[in-house]
Amino acid sequence: MEEVWVAGAAMNRFGKMAESGREAAARVALEAIERSGLRPEDIGYTFLSNAFGIAERQAHLGPLLNTALGIPDVPSATIESACSSSSAALHEAYVHVAGGFLDAALVVGVEKLSHLDTLAATSYFAMGADYAFESRNGATFPGLYATLAAAHMQRYGTRPEELGAVAVKNHENASHNPHAHFQKPISLQTYLSSPPVALPFRLYDCCPFSDGAAAVVVVNPRRYRKELRSVPAAIRASARTGSIAALQDRSDLTTLPASVRAGEIAFRQAKVERSDIDLMEVHDCFTLAEILALEDLGFYPRGQAARAGAEGETAVGAKLPVNPSGGLKAKGHPVSATGAAQVVEVIEQFNGRAGERQVSDAQWALTHNVGATGGSCSVHIFERV
Ligand SMILES: CC(C)(COP(=O)(O)OP(=O)(O)OC[C@H]1O[C@@H](n2cnc3c(N)ncnc32)[C@H](O)[C@@H]1OP(=O)(O)O)[C@@H](O)C(=O)NCCC(=O)NCCS
Repeated sequence: MEEVWVAGAAMNRFGKMAESGREAAARVALEAIERSGLRPEDIGYTFLSNAFGIAERQAHLGPLLNTALGIPDVPSATIESACSSSSAALHEAYVHVAGGFLDAALVVGVEKLSHLDTLAATSYFAMGADYAFESRNGATFPGLYATLAAAHMQRYGTRPEELGAVAVKNHENASHNPHAHFQKPISLQTYLSSPPVALPFRLYDCCPFSDGAAAVVVVNPRRYRKELRSVPAAIRASARTGSIAALQDRSDLTTLPASVRAGEIAFRQAKVERSDIDLMEVHDCFTLAEILALEDLGFYPRGQAARAGAEGETAVGAKLPVNPSGGLKAKGHPVSATGAAQVVEVIEQFNGRAGERQVSDAQWALTHNVGATGGSCSVHIFERV
C-alpha cells in the first residue's frame, strides 16, 4: 500500500451561509488546494458529500464543482452516509490513493439548509433514520439520541450536570474558533435553565442546524512531497464500519457498536495506543454522543467518561483534549461537511494555527464521525509529519 497524506484542508465559518452550497463548495475546495501546494489540475478524483443537496434542488454537484475548479474532465462521485458522509468520502479517497489508483484526490462536504424552518429541517434530517419505523412514527434525531441518553443515565447514573459539562467545554472551545457557528461561552447554569427539546435533552445538549463547507486534499507523498506547503498529516488508519441502524432492533442502547469496531480496527491499523492520542474530534451531535464516543472508542471504561469530562479531563490543556474545535455541538453540524471539518481542525492543530485552543506538541490525532444514530461510522488516525 502507498502512504496517504492530508496535504491541505479548509472550511468556511459554519452557521448561516449567504452563498449557495455550490458556491461555498468551490470556494473552500480552491482554498484547500491552494493551501496544499497543488494545483486544481493535479486532482484525479473529487469525492463530494452533500446529503441534502435536494433542499437546494441540486443533486449531482460533483461535475458542477469540478467545472468551477477548471477541471471538468475529472471524475466525481457523491458519497452519502448521513452525518458521516464526508468521512466516508475521505475513506474512499484514502482507499484510492493507498491502492495506487490516484496520486491526489479532493474530498468536499457541503450542506445548506438554513433557508428551511426548524420543522422542515428536522423532517429532512429524519430521513437519515429508519423512515418506516422511526421517522414516520414521529421520532426525530433529538428524540432518538435522547432515548440513548435516558438509557445511559438509567444504567450508569449519568447526571444532567455531566451532560452539561460537555456543552460548557465545547462552547468554550468554539469561542476560540473563528470558524465556529457559536462563539460565545455558556455557563452550567445557562445549560441547566435552557428550554427542554426532548428530555433529558435541553437546547444546549443539541448541535444546531448549520450551513457549511469543508474540503480536504489527499495525496501520495511519493508523487507530491516536494509541492507541499503545509505540515501534512499522514493517515495511519482509515476505518469504516456499519451496524444495525434502527434503535428498535438493538439489544443495548448504551453503546454504538459501529464506533466500537471502527475504533478497534483503527488502532490495529495505526499500531498506536489510546494513550498516544494527543487530541480527538469526536461526533458530539448531542452531549451524550461525546460520552458514548469516549467509552465506545475505549478511552474510558463504561459509565466513567461523563464524570471524567465533568472533572475537566477532556478540556484543552488537560489529559485528553476532546473536540478542541468546539465539536458538532458548538462549531456546528452541517451534516455532510462535518467529517471533513474534523480533519481541518487536525491540520490547524498540526500546523500550530489553532490559537487559544492549540493543543501543544500535538503529534497524533483521531477523528470519529457517526452516521445517524450509529448505522455507520468512520474513525481516522493521523500522525503529524
Ligand atoms: C435544538 C433545536 C430544536 C433548536 O431549534 P429552534 O428551537 O428552532 O431554535 P431557533 O433556531 O429558533 O433558535 C433559538 C435560539 O437558540 C439558539 N440555538 C438554536 N439551536 C441551538 C443549539 N443547538 N445550541 C445552542 N443554541 C441554539 C439560536 O441561535 C437562537 O438564539 P438567539 O435567540 O440568541 O438568536 C435545533 O437546533 C435542533 O433540532 N438541533 C438538532 C439538529 C439535529 O438533529 N442534527 C442531526 C444530529 S444527528
